[in-house]
Parts: sequence; C-alpha cells; structure tokens
Amino acid sequence: MDNEIFKSVDEYIAFRVAKEDTALQKTSTSVREANVADISISPVQGKMLQVFAAACSAKRILELGTFFAYSTIWLARALPLNGKLISIEIDEHQTALAQKNIDNAQLSHLVELRTGKAIDIFQEMINSDEPPFDLIFVDADKPPYLEYFKLAIKLSRPGTIIICDNVIRNGAVLDENATDEKVIGVQRLNNYLSTCNDIVATILQTVGAKEYDGMVMAVVK
Ligand code: SAH
Ligand code: DHB
Ligand code: MG
Repeated sequence: MDNEIFKSVDEYIAFRVAKEDTALQKTSTSVREANVADISISPVQGKMLQVFAAACSAKRILELGTFFAYSTIWLARALPLNGKLISIEIDEHQTALAQKNIDNAQLSHLVELRTGKAIDIFQEMINSDEPPFDLIFVDADKPPYLEYFKLAIKLSRPGTIIICDNVIRNGAVLDENATDEKVIGVQRLNNYLSTCNDIVATILQTVGAKEYDGMVMAVVK
C-alpha cells in the first residue's frame, strides 16, 4: 500500500484542523528525547478524540494508557472548567514524565494521573462507586482489551462513548491463526462487538502519520 499519500493528506488535514501548539510540540519532543517508539496517537487522531468529547459535552473522561500524555492533552482540552480526566498508567516513571507535560500544558487542575494496573484501578473505581464517565479511551496493553471493554461498560451510562485504539494492527486481525498476543487480544474484542447487545459500535480504519490501524467507536445503549 502507498502510505505516502496517507501521510501527506494527514499533514494537509493537520495543517488545517489539528495544529500542535507549543505544549503538544513539547510533549512530542519529550517522546523523541526518551528514545522510545512513539506509540502516541497522531495529531489528527487527537483532534478526533477532542471532537467526540465535545460532541457529548464530556465532563468526565477516563483514559487507559497515559504514556507521555499526548492523547490526554487533546482530550482534556475539550473539558469545561469543572471537568475531570482520569488517566491510568502502569509505569511510575512514565506517569512522572506525563505529569510534566500536563503541567506544561496548564491542565493539572483537570487531569488526575493514577499509577497502577488498569484492571486493578478499574476494580477500585467500581468498588468505590465512581460516577460514570462520559467518554472512555482504551489505549493500554492489548491482550486484556476485551476485559477493559467490559469494565468500561460498567463505568458507563447510556450514551457513554467508548473508543479503543489499535484494533486492526496493520490488518493482522484478518489472520485467524494469529499467535501475537496483541493481535489475539484485539481480535477477542472485535469478535465480541457482534454479540454485545449493550452497545452500538463500529470500527474505523485509521491511516495517516501512524501505522495502518483502527479504532472501535462504541456508544453504550
Ligand atoms: N494514550 C497514549 C499512548 C498510550 S501507549 C497516547 O496516545 O498518547 C500505552 C501505555 O499503556 C504505555 O505507557 C504503557 O506503559 C501503558 N500500560 C501498559 N500496560 C498497562 C496496564 N496493564 N495498565 C495501565 N497502563 C498500562
Ligand atoms: C502499540 C500500542 C499502541 O497504543 C499504539 O498506538 C501502537 C502500538 C504497541 O504496543 O505495539
Ligand atoms: Mg494506541
């Protein structure tokens, strides 16, 4: 596939509707300086999440997988002054780096980072009667994606939007004999969508600056 056209069009779109300000640029720089693979979403994808948060007038957002807080910043910018975004990250070092980027973007009053395993923190939130979220973005480790999705529904209300990143994996989901546990994890979720009566859902293929992939877009009934 010719990815160059997707990259060029992504830049065309970003130039018009998803320009990074200095805080987002600095966040991207922090990823490059850490010398790790940049698995943050793209600017255009960040803007898409922001559009969805705005569409549902989100006041409460939950994110799984903070990394350097690049997606966190795009999402938090859709929140009103009394809004709240909780982002869960397993790696303490990563949380500290993310917090710097959030402080730099002047979003610390809206964003709460929680360090721990997503499943454990989900369970804590369910046990402590955490009020439902308006939008949930699932972007942590892939093997338990189905478990995350089911727990996300428990922290939802009718109308909650649930978006899950990386569910197409360069088309690897077509392989019914896949052995990669990340691929198997997202296949389990994708298969579940056809049987789950609690949601209305689709999968959007994503092309552009990042690898060919896809996102589950679901609304809780
Ligand atoms: N949402 C980010 C990218 C997240 S990358 C963005 O688009 O900018 C995935 C992150 O999930 C990594 O930082 C990784 O440390 C974290 N992670 C992996 N396993 C996890 C788990 N079990 N619970 C919580 N976070 C986890
Ligand atoms: C991976 C994780 C992501 O969240 C992503 O957007 C791309 C790749 C990964 O773990 O391979
Ligand atoms: Mg991702």
